[in-house]
Amino acid sequence: MTEYIIRGGKPLYGEIEISGAKNAAVAIIPAALLVDGVCRIENIPQISDVTLFLNILKTMGADIRTVNKHTMDIDCRGINAGEGPSEMMRAIRASYYLIGAMLGRFGHARGAMPGGCDFGVRPIDQHIKGFKAMGAEVDVMDGMIIADTPGGRLKGANIYLDVVSVGATMNIMLAAVKAEGKTVIENAAKEPHIVDLANFLNSMGADIKGAGTSVIKINGVDHMNGGFYSIIPDQIEAGTYLAAVAGAGGEVVVKNVIPKHLECITAKLEEMGAEIEERGDAVLVRRTKPLRSTNVKTMPYPGFPTDMQPQITALLAMAQGTSMVTEDVWDDRFRYVSQLSRMGANIHVDGKIAVIQGVEQLKAAPVRACDLRAGAAMVIAGLCAEGNTRIEDVHYIERGYENIVEKLRGVGADIVCVSSEPGDDKPAEALA
Ligand code: EPU
Repeated sequence: MTEYIIRGGKPLYGEIEISGAKNAAVAIIPAALLVDGVCRIENIPQISDVTLFLNILKTMGADIRTVNKHTMDIDCRGINAGEGPSEMMRAIRASYYLIGAMLGRFGHARGAMPGGCDFGVRPIDQHIKGFKAMGAEVDVMDGMIIADTPGGRLKGANIYLDVVSVGATMNIMLAAVKAEGKTVIENAAKEPHIVDLANFLNSMGADIKGAGTSVIKINGVDHMNGGFYSIIPDQIEAGTYLAAVAGAGGEVVVKNVIPKHLECITAKLEEMGAEIEERGDAVLVRRTKPLRSTNVKTMPYPGFPTDMQPQITALLAMAQGTSMVTEDVWDDRFRYVSQLSRMGANIHVDGKIAVIQGVEQLKAAPVRACDLRAGAAMVIAGLCAEGNTRIEDVHYIERGYENIVEKLRGVGADIVCVSSEPGDDKPAEALA
């Protein structure tokens, strides 16, 4: 069992380099299935969700070569069946992109329903609505999705999404790039990773227009050749480190970012009293005064991202005054609040709303990462708390943050990763 132990209370100084975007990588890697050639992909983050996805493609017959730490050559020409390895697919939410990519390439697809972080019901009805509109017959039974296209090739269609869904927008895009004719996705999501997937597919020979707006138009093509692509920096990883500095205090330059993608996050941090300076492809964050309360409501991009909700809640738990956080994307994304309460936070959750009464000082406690972003929130709380915080279940954090311990140590945080056996009650002080 791996845990993080953080001795809180140290301000952070220096520079942090941001990795490639997880939620772009987990769509672009399966998108390589649609390409009739080698895709050289740069800026791939080294995180466990990506490793799992690369292993899924390898199991299916892809030839994947490591060029360097963050660059891979992916050649999926050797894959000849539209069936994914179910056990592996169940371990990751984004495995649903394989269904869209397999349908687009083979006209049929079979695989397990996706797993991933649990914050309430996570339906994929809009993905299925899109596939059906393009002519696929789709069945979900015994935890499996089975899709087939009579005639062998999907047909372009007009698809209106009933909810703004990142996954459905990208999955329909994957299915549509090689369909016959034109597909129009209306009420599409606009997240930076949607634009990144469209740019990747276009650079391989697809014809997609409008990504980043609410209407995306895709003209189906017969072939996509190989090519070269570099994944965008991770908006949420960058936001998490900005929040960490806003909490712990100090001054850090967060490098390799697209500042525009961070505006929805930096605007809130500034309201709370952090100072933010844009410096080309870097953002400086400084916090010298006490944090102030604010209200936050999560929304699809360009609104405040739900994937930053736990991290900002951890900060608000230490801000002066009362704040309100409304979670408007997921039904049940406040489960981690009980962990923050163990550290002395005063938060009352009622359905989708958390009311936070800031406390002067969080106190260290043994806590667990309930999911990826909840885990990031625990790290932030630990960096700010008095004493040694022990965080369990950090494998969730490592699904989405490359070298988080090393990156934080690089700016002066007192954080270590330790392995321990269940029932090992060594005091945190002895390990830190
Ligand atoms: N929804 C439906 N039907 C669908 C699809 C979604 O009702 O067919 C609903 C969901 O229940 C939710 C809302 O629409 O209430 C938005 O869901 P969306 O489809 O946008 O989420 P997702 O694609 O499954 C991705 C990210 C999540 C992130 C959300 C929202 C990946 C792999 N995951 O999930 O990221 O929270 O978009 O931005 O891209 C994370 O990185 O920690 C993470 C959970």
